[in-house]
Amino acid sequence: MSARALRRVVLGVGGGIAAYKSVSLLRLFTEGGHDVRVVPTAAALRFVGEPTWSALSGHPVTTDVWSSPDEVPHVAIARIADLVVVAPATADLLARAASGLADDLLTNVLLTARCPVLMAPAMHTEMWEHPATQHNVETLRRRGIVVLDPDEGRLAGQDTGKGRLPDPEVIHTVALSLLHPVPSGPLTGRRAVISAGGTREPLDPVRYLGNASSGRQGVALAEAARDLGAQVTLVAAHVEVDLPEGVAISRVSTAAELQQAMRAAAVDADVIVMAAAVADFRPEVVAERKIKKGPADPAPLRLVRTVDVLASLAADRPAATVLLVGFAAETGDADGDVLHHAERKLLAKGCDVLVVNDVSGGRVFGSPENEVVILRRVGDTVVTAAEIPQQRKSLVAHAIWEVLIPLLASVSSASTVSAERLTLSGTSH
Ligand code: CTP
Repeated sequence: MSARALRRVVLGVGGGIAAYKSVSLLRLFTEGGHDVRVVPTAAALRFVGEPTWSALSGHPVTTDVWSSPDEVPHVAIARIADLVVVAPATADLLARAASGLADDLLTNVLLTARCPVLMAPAMHTEMWEHPATQHNVETLRRRGIVVLDPDEGRLAGQDTGKGRLPDPEVIHTVALSLLHPVPSGPLTGRRAVISAGGTREPLDPVRYLGNASSGRQGVALAEAARDLGAQVTLVAAHVEVDLPEGVAISRVSTAAELQQAMRAAAVDADVIVMAAAVADFRPEVVAERKIKKGPADPAPLRLVRTVDVLASLAADRPAATVLLVGFAAETGDADGDVLHHAERKLLAKGCDVLVVNDVSGGRVFGSPENEVVILRRVGDTVVTAAEIPQQRKSLVAHAIWEVLIPLLASVSSASTVSAERLTLSGTSH
């Protein structure tokens, strides 16, 4: 392991029931070769004791600044840290950090540290939603601290709701991206254009035809590409998640707008990923005024096809200048199973790679997890490039890039491709 790989991490632990999950987080850091100093609050030690933290980190553990004052522990710990991660961050800890209090070792470290700081809150839903907590989170984020949103799910006692500590693997992934602010990565020098979310086709000023896509997988792909060094443009239709920082964003609503934005962004892209769920049909006529109920039966809705953005990108690109990746949402039917339909779709669309989701029974849409098969076109045949098992969409995103990165090696760099060669035909509906 290179000396650079060994980084010094301070793991702050707040006094919440989720403190036990930080034991796994500690393991993930130490198994990755990082040197971790655990700084719990006094309340955290009620949940997980000092011997656990010191045995697993290999360092003594203390909660206050008085144990060995001659060493000025908060300064010593904070100055050499490459990263501070606080998990779980309780409402109390967020409040103390936001107001700059320094009444224990952890808050002293937070005031002294000049490295990136990541906080992963966990608490009951009401406490998270309270304006005081939200205000504290805003304050911390304004100061550049990365504060994760808690997950939804089972909380302490019988409660469920928003307030659950994100999985240690997720906190670890985000932490690593802060620890290695990728001056160079496998996608450095590459331009990635990624679409995400569901398009909407208006019926009248208040109604639309839409779909259940949350945009999570596309947004996760954009974040992962950014963290791997790419210059990213995210063409975002309607998404239910926060849009990432550090990527160029183009907002769209309809399939036609999506096509226009993709066309503009595709000009100097190395890789295009169509993760958006695009409406295949739109109302033939969009009513200028709200369609009223009235006594008669509603007029039948006449639909017409929208443009197939992916197929049009594939049809108009010069060969081998860009890696074109589609997604497929399939359920399987009497004509064939999910993979049968996916293989046909890959050949019909003319893209290079197809990421296949089995969406039967409402799976995938809106879920934080995903499971995909990646198909690759080789001439007129289709091969399976990877099967990625069920896991969080952020991890699926990284696994997808692992497959795409070697394929990109055969794509000439975007800077060598002239704009005219990539000009797409102006199909629009
Ligand atoms: N796609 C597109 N434009 C459309 C429809 C789909 O660019 N009008 C893209 C999607 O972004 C995705 C891929 O095509 O990358 C496959 O989308 P999917 O919804 O699985 O398939 P459809 O092409 O809509 O075909 P069908 O609904 O018949 O399965």
